Amino acid sequence: MARVYANHAAVSPPSAAVRSAVLEALDGYGRHGLSWYFRELERRERVRGLLGRLVGAEARNVALVPNTSTGVVDIALCLPWRAADRIVLFSGEFPTNVTPWQQAARRHGLEIVWQDGDLSRTDRGAALERLEAELRRGVRLVALSAVQFQTGQRMPLEEIGALCARYGAELFVDAIQAVGVVPIDVHSLGIHYLVAGSHKWLMAPEGLGMLYVAPASAAALIPEVAAWMSHEDAFSFLTRGGGHLRYDRPIVQTAQMVEGGAPNTLAIAGLEASAGLIEQLSVGAIFAHLQAWHDAVEPGLLARGFESARMAELSGRSGSLSLLPPPGAGASEWAKALLARGVSCASPDGWLRLAPHWPNSLDEAPTLLDAVDEVLATLR
Ligand SMILES: Cc1ncc(COP(=O)(O)O)c(C=O)c1O
Repeated sequence: MARVYANHAAVSPPSAAVRSAVLEALDGYGRHGLSWYFRELERRERVRGLLGRLVGAEARNVALVPNTSTGVVDIALCLPWRAADRIVLFSGEFPTNVTPWQQAARRHGLEIVWQDGDLSRTDRGAALERLEAELRRGVRLVALSAVQFQTGQRMPLEEIGALCARYGAELFVDAIQAVGVVPIDVHSLGIHYLVAGSHKWLMAPEGLGMLYVAPASAAALIPEVAAWMSHEDAFSFLTRGGGHLRYDRPIVQTAQMVEGGAPNTLAIAGLEASAGLIEQLSVGAIFAHLQAWHDAVEPGLLARGFESARMAELSGRSGSLSLLPPPGAGASEWAKALLARGVSCASPDGWLRLAPHWPNSLDEAPTLLDAVDEVLATLR
């Protein structure tokens, strides 16, 4: 067991509260079978509301999906594309937010326009100017992550949302590295679609995610991924007796059209527990705590020759503190060597990423820096 767990941007270990919520749901099914199902139906609605509150959305515009990738694929399949529509993507993005758009481009003859995702960390003004130049030429959709998975850069969503609104483009946000740790509000940021998975900053088991779709955007979606639960009144033929089995009921024209079949009930139970705690603590307080944790460890790492990716502006910061190690060993060697000394962190795309969450103590800095010194001693 790691003495310092700083890997929540990869996988968050389920807390005691999460484990007992999952076991209670499993036990409920075990004892009551179908009678328990109806309690879980109510929980699903509560969880949509809880996730919605974390991003400033209404429960009816939030769907539960199997993971982040499925949410992206759903929208890429359902958007009413026109041939030659242009999609803006960013280099350095996690492939989840690239592959489904490439597939849509192949199917519909769309044009992908690339932007440099790291430019907004090193020169925010230049990055926004380049984006605006493309938007001026006409763009259907801009797709990006709220927080970059490797550097921890929080993207300038406010400015990007305003530019999208000015030039009539829609904004799609992969927020798996943000929801639960970075304040985010779909309305004030002008976000049309937002997707996030459960097992990182939301601290729940894997196999679950949320998809928000703004009502006007949802109304235009073509329900390519619809299945039995996507219909209005989908359960009536099961609960109201004979004569209700029909195949012509309208498809719900909200985000929930993508909820086609049985969901991951156990993960939803876990997510209610973990996201409930996050809401209770408040995302703002968690963000402030993590900045204090970063402040406690960053100077010691800089003094030891690491280079930090953390932005000076608070608006560019997230829960992840990413660093380039000093010459001598790469990030993946560092991550392995630190794990052997009780510190769990990750090495995405050559960066050493430290990702604490609310349970991490500010007192962990000396333990972490001792482990770093031990590794440095082996490199000399
Ligand atoms: C930015 C980003 N998007 C998506 C994913 C993967 O999402 P999922 O496995 O839920 O599809 C990750 C990490 O695993 C990520 O960092």
